[in-house]
Amino acid sequence: MVAPFDATEFRRTLGYLPTGVTVITTTGEFGEPVGMACNSFMSVSLNPPLIMICAGKESATLVDLRRSGGFCVNILGSGQGELCRQFSVKDIDRFAGVPWTESAAGPELGDAVAWMSCAIEVEHDAGDHVIIIARVTALRVNPDEPTPLVFHRGKFGSFREGVEPLAATAALPRQKVGGSTRVPPVAPGAYGYAQGYAYGYAHR
Ligand SMILES: Cc1cc2nc3c(=O)[nH]c(=O)nc-3n(C[C@H](O)[C@H](O)[C@H](O)COP(=O)(O)O)c2cc1C
Repeated sequence: MVAPFDATEFRRTLGYLPTGVTVITTTGEFGEPVGMACNSFMSVSLNPPLIMICAGKESATLVDLRRSGGFCVNILGSGQGELCRQFSVKDIDRFAGVPWTESAAGPELGDAVAWMSCAIEVEHDAGDHVIIIARVTALRVNPDEPTPLVFHRGKFGSFREGVEPLAATAALPRQKVGGSTRVPPVAPGAYGYAQGYAYGYAHR
């Protein structure tokens, strides 16, 4: 079936969703550090702790991920936009000028917001990408708490806290719905409907 829009339009539309950015690192065949910029990172399950990333089928990093069976997720800080670009360019030394330390899963980049060691559990075919689901085996957050990098419409920015803290939802009455406890959506204007709704479920 032919989509009624082209790839450029699709990509541009996807760019309207701001995302965080990670660099996925692992160890290459000859022990060399390997990594690529990746914003398709997402949490999947709390118990067991699972995350997912999507990797292009043409990605050279994918070959190393499959062989090593694991990787490190480096959640980038707002000062790491240039570093992110560096990790998306082909045929350069992506680690040039980048401080990093070794870990069993893959290199941990200095000044990242947090690091997660992951073991690949399963891979699913998905068009021109594959979805990799992995178990988080260890994690560490940067005690300096750098602000995270945000990617939006091809540009890098940083996260700014809203006026209303997220804790505002905690004061709302909870309703039992099936197996989960639901907080009713907050009134638009007070906190923002979409955000209030998205955080409205707390599984017990
Ligand atoms: C902000 C940003 C996010 C990206 N996210 C992904 C992603 O989720 N999956 C992916 O396969 N490539 C992603 N890329 C592109 C890869 O980083 C790029 O294709 C890289 O050259 C792949 O390197 P490799 O072939 O050495 O694996 C992203 C690039 C940027 C700049």
